[in-house]
Amino acid sequence: MTVDKTELDKSIKKVQAEFWLPTETLDKIVEYFIEELERGLVDGTDPLGIPMNLAWVMEYPTGDETGDYLALDFGGTNLRVVMVHLLGGKKLETEQSFYRLPHGMRTTKDRNELFEFMAECLEKFLIEKHPSGIPENKTFPLGFTFSYPATQSRIDAGVLQRWTKGFDIPGVEGEDVVPLLMEKVNNRNLPIKVVALINDTCGALVASRYVDPLTEMGCIFGTGVNGSYYETVNAIKKVKGQLPADIPEDSPMLINCEYGSFDNAHKVIPRTKYDLKIDADSPRPGQQTFEKMTAGFYLGDLMRLVLLDQYKNGLLFQEADSKLIKLLETENCIDTSFLSLIESDESEDLSLVKKTFADALHYEDATSDECYFAKEVAEIIGTRAARLSICGISAACKKRGYKNCHVAADGAVYLKYPNFPERAAEGLADVFRWGRDLPYDQHPIKIVKAQDGSGVGAAVIAALSHKRQLQGLS
Ligand code: GLC
Repeated sequence: MTVDKTELDKSIKKVQAEFWLPTETLDKIVEYFIEELERGLVDGTDPLGIPMNLAWVMEYPTGDETGDYLALDFGGTNLRVVMVHLLGGKKLETEQSFYRLPHGMRTTKDRNELFEFMAECLEKFLIEKHPSGIPENKTFPLGFTFSYPATQSRIDAGVLQRWTKGFDIPGVEGEDVVPLLMEKVNNRNLPIKVVALINDTCGALVASRYVDPLTEMGCIFGTGVNGSYYETVNAIKKVKGQLPADIPEDSPMLINCEYGSFDNAHKVIPRTKYDLKIDADSPRPGQQTFEKMTAGFYLGDLMRLVLLDQYKNGLLFQEADSKLIKLLETENCIDTSFLSLIESDESEDLSLVKKTFADALHYEDATSDECYFAKEVAEIIGTRAARLSICGISAACKKRGYKNCHVAADGAVYLKYPNFPERAAEGLADVFRWGRDLPYDQHPIKIVKAQDGSGVGAAVIAALSHKRQLQGLS
């Protein structure tokens, strides 16, 4: 069955209009974002606001840090263990292994499983790197990249505020995750000591700054969305009383914004009915509003809901097997790679889109209308995510007065989603009025691919904090 072309185009235009964010809307979002960044620095405990978590990294890396550090990167999809050799002179070497998070771990009812799994991965890694036995006379300093909102009263501790990115494991929120990990590490007699707990955005910033001093922000566009940058301590009202009196007012302090929670009060970002549904069906309704509209964990589900709507409206999938419809009614049956693949199809007959439907949804008979529609929607959803994502960057740069700088970006959406970097750059050009004709490489604020953040960044931060500890400063 083919669909009336006018009807199809009308439907695409409707979705387009629902998702499009004109520059004036971006301006309003950025303005409110700046207010919220400021508010979080005074008191980040309002669940409707942005936490602006203190990261206790109080220096910029120089590139001369040296030493061997282990990093454990627990981000959302994979777990990674990295051995980083910081060689100084902005040089480093890494060895790493990936471990897939076992199915169901995101929502296991037993927190021990999660921390046991982390310790097991660390042990496997150390054995792999030391086949003749893990050295007994050595303690490996570990940078633990824990990419969830955590309240830190010092650099080697962090109390989980709340799970994000679909995690929902009881008994961890409100707890310091470092002893939870160390208990399992010690049970295995592993010679490891956590010297720093860090967020992935902080890792991206510090790792990139280690090699590129123009870096002022670290951002993740991945399973979740977030950013970090350095404030001066005099601007952080809530840190008063927590710092030694002799710390100079203009000392830097790294802030993990946790701006995935931006606009939880629903003041400025226009939300579609699809956004409302994703929020309502999530384990934490009302939380992570910004993230739910921009991050990889949710983009596939947005696509699913738009496609399902077309079925319900009688436009598409009318002759599809009921199995497809059942699947489209199932949360998270489409992930972001579905959109990336569809967007990357440049063929005339959209053969890759058709194949993606077959591979991901076991739907072999996607019609050319369905393929065309899905490709348009992938572009619409991806464009909104990119334009919205850069509001956090714009706000932080405006607040800090950064006019020429690099923003280190990491995460699968940034690295793998076709056209995402270009759309993000275009969004920045709109907000800062650089004009669409200015080539991206001449943009004053440039989003650049981060140096492997969560591994190297954890190591550099571990090195910085190790140095402070040796100097008796923390
Ligand atoms: C979520 C987490 C945040 C992390 C981001 C990217 O927003 O809460 O800590 O930085 O995802 O991974």
